[in-house]
Parts: sequence; C-alpha cells; structure tokens
Amino acid sequence: MPAIETQQLRKVYVSHKKQPGIWGGIKGLFSRENVEVEAVKGIDLSIEQGELVGFLGPNGAGKTTTLKMLSGILYPSSGEATVLGYRPQDRKAEMLRQISLVMGNKMQLWWDLPAWDSFVVLKELYEVDDAKFKRRSEFLIETLQLTDKIHTQVRKLSLGERMKCELVAALLHSPRVVFLDEPTIGLDVVSQKRIRDFLKDLHREDNCTVILTSHYMQDVQELCERVVVIDQGSLIFDGSLDNLSSTFSDFKRIRLTFRESLPLDRVEGYGRIVEHSDSATVIEIPRQETAAVATRLLQELPVEDVAIEEVEFDEVIRALFSRNDSRETSSD
Ligand SMILES: Nc1ncnc2c1ncn2[C@@H]1O[C@H](COP(=O)(O)OP(=O)(O)OP(=O)(O)O)[C@@H](O)[C@H]1O
Ligand SMILES: [Mg+2]
Repeated sequence: MPAIETQQLRKVYVSHKKQPGIWGGIKGLFSRENVEVEAVKGIDLSIEQGELVGFLGPNGAGKTTTLKMLSGILYPSSGEATVLGYRPQDRKAEMLRQISLVMGNKMQLWWDLPAWDSFVVLKELYEVDDAKFKRRSEFLIETLQLTDKIHTQVRKLSLGERMKCELVAALLHSPRVVFLDEPTIGLDVVSQKRIRDFLKDLHREDNCTVILTSHYMQDVQELCERVVVIDQGSLIFDGSLDNLSSTFSDFKRIRLTFRESLPLDRVEGYGRIVEHSDSATVIEIPRQETAAVATRLLQELPVEDVAIEEVEFDEVIRALFSRNDSRETSSD
C-alpha cells in the first residue's frame, strides 16, 4: 500500500467579496458575492513508503494547500486522499501520531519558552515514553547542532536556530510521514546546507516518507530523486529529476574542448553559444538537432573531447515558472 495516495484531490476556497464603502458593507449584509479560487484542481498522486519527493511549483500553484489537505488541516472540496491508510480529514489520533507538517514560514513553538520546554510538552502530547524521548531528542539535537541553544527563549534565537528547533519539535514523535513546506525559506546558504544534511540523515535513520516543497533548487537536487510539479493547481510533471529536464527543456548543450585555441567566430553558426574560452565552448542546440550538429562539429573543428548535457535543472525550473508568470500577466 502506498504511504500517500490521492485521487482527484481538489480544493476550492470560497471567500466573500467585500464591497467598498459603507453602502457596500450594508449591501453585503443582504447579498454577498462569493469568490471562488480553485487552488487544487484534481491531483492524482501515489507515493510509496520511504520515498522523498520534491513538490515544486511557482507561487500560488497549490503546494501548501495540498500539504494542508494531506495533513488534515483542510477539508478537500472533492476527491480522496489517504495517508497511511487514513483519511486525513478525519484527523484520527492514530494518524496524527504518525505524521508531521513543518512550515518554514509559520512557527509552532512557544515564543517565550526555551525550545526544550516545548519539546517536553510535545513528548507528553504524543505520549512518547522516556527512553525513546531521550534517544530521539539526543539524535535530533545533536544532528542539528543545537545543544547550546535549547535552553534559550525561542524569541532570542536566530531564524536558522528557530527553524532547527521547529524541526526537532516536529520530529520528536518519529513520524512515518513528514510534510516539509519550505523548511529552508529565508535561511543563509550555510544554514540551508545544514538542514539539507540533517534531512538526509533523518531520512536514512527513519526511512520516513517525505514530501518537501522548496523554492531552492539545491534542496530538491540534493534530496529528491522524484519530483512532482504543479502549476495553477494541476499536476504537470511526476517523475525523476533527469526526466524533468528532458521533458521541459527543448534544448541540449554540447560541451566541446579543442586541441588548439579557437577564436569565437570559428564556433559561431552551430547554435547559441553559452560559454566560450580559448579551448572550450558550450553550445545550446534544439533537442532534435543534437546528433546532426554534434556530427558537424566533430567533422569541422579540432575537437578533443565532446559531452552532450541536459540544460541545468534550475534553469529548466526557472524557464518553466517564468512561462507561468508571463501567462498570468497576459491573461489579466
Ligand atoms: N485561505 C485562503 N483563501 C482563499 N484563497 C486562498 C487561501 N489560501 C490560499 N489561497 C489561494 O490558493 C492558491 C494556492 O495557494 P497555495 O498557498 O496553496 O500556493 P503555494 O503553491 O503554496 O504557493 P507559495 O509557493 O507561494 O507558497 C493561491 O491562488 C492562493 O491565493
Ligand atoms: Mg506555499
């Protein structure tokens, strides 16, 4: 049985449009105009126990909404979800004890208490026994290098330290399914890396099922073999990272090294030149023409070495998401 499964999972937010001014307010008492936003438009997903899946999409794509439905915070408008065999919206205690949702932009720890005090409260809440709590808290606190921070009031910690404490709090009960919604948002590159390394350790240790959203491509590249991409509420890709590049990039790159130094004009006319130095050049070529152009390059230039590469993952994503931006503005 997959750890997470959805069938046509859908969420429509309904809000009431406020009319401007006093008159509008009074009119609103009698007839309220509802505004509907279809944030998630019927998503089918199946994630096996132990997978670590990157969940990508531009702002407003519906990622957080999906994770909230999967963790039982939001009721789906239609469709089905099962997490560890439970319907998340039923919020059964047995399910809640086995899952966790971490939101990078929403702190759940008590602001005025040291993190340790919150951990102890959570221990009681989740009914973690003493020995387990000791082992687990030590593992989390040491791996995240928090030992000298947990007795300081949370409000006095840096953003990165707070985030790490949030992770400890969310993972103390050894959840089998973990939803991570932008756990590295706003952190400097060193802290981001530390959290990534921690997530690798955690995943290895627990073999938990993880869905991770992040706008930092490095997170996804280092952690996830599989990525799911949504755009305007619909799933547009589900597969491996490598396949993502070949699906969404119409180009490949040919990297050439030469036996002698070549002036720029010798390498012109084959495709878009991405990089050029005396003895090396990278040329971008439409995917279907790769073989033909590579053959010509080998025949016509003093090539020492040639490599054909996919366009970098983060460039593919950037292109994909900016396509979305331009569509949004043009439809306005
Ligand atoms: N409580 C709400 N009421 C009405 N609309 C909402 C609500 N929450 C989210 N939305 C809308 O639903 C859509 C999806 O939002 P969601 O937060 O799921 O996107 P996201 O993919 O997490 O984006 P981001 O990358 O910015 O976090 C957006 O258009 C958003 O404006
Ligand atoms: Mg979000």
